[in-house]
Amino acid sequence: MRRLLYVSAARDGLRESDVKDIVATAQRFNASSSVTGLLAFNGVNFMQAIEGEEDAVLDLFAKIAADARHRSVVMLINERVSERGFPDWSMMYARAARASGDRRRLLDRNGLPAAALPPDLPDHLFQLFTSFNTLN
Ligand SMILES: Cc1cc2nc3c(=O)[nH]c(=O)nc-3n(C[C@H](O)[C@H](O)[C@H](O)COP(=O)(O)O)c2cc1C
Repeated sequence: MRRLLYVSAARDGLRESDVKDIVATAQRFNASSSVTGLLAFNGVNFMQAIEGEEDAVLDLFAKIAADARHRSVVMLINERVSERGFPDWSMMYARAARASGDRRRLLDRNGLPAAALPPDLPDHLFQLFTSFNTLN
């Protein structure tokens, strides 16, 4: 199996309702192709993990990367895995708060709360999802 994780920037003017549409499509399609993962959105950036059989993941990523609803897609993880990090989620959606205020505080954890993540999530994924707002 393969797992990819990327960050991207939402197209200007993208609304929460557009994100809901993306998630609805993702959950339907991913369930039918045994892809699992997590999509986090903080109002500006997306961070998404997708995992599943090699071809399913690569084909899906090609579609996602070409989607005009976001840009500046940067791949952070591309790894072979023997187990899923998000076995129960066709595409979990999590709305994260955005870092704000004192710039020194940007190194604090202010992505997703740990409680929003699967308990057995590998450390590197945990780190990225709990701190992804430091990108701002
Ligand atoms: C940030 C983001 C994440 C997305 N994640 C998924 C996903 O996990 N699964 C999915 O099927 N589509 C996802 N999409 C939507 C795809 O880009 C695409 O619109 C969808 O797969 C339908 O493609 P099709 O009409 O060519 O079949 C995502 C789009 C964006 C902008």
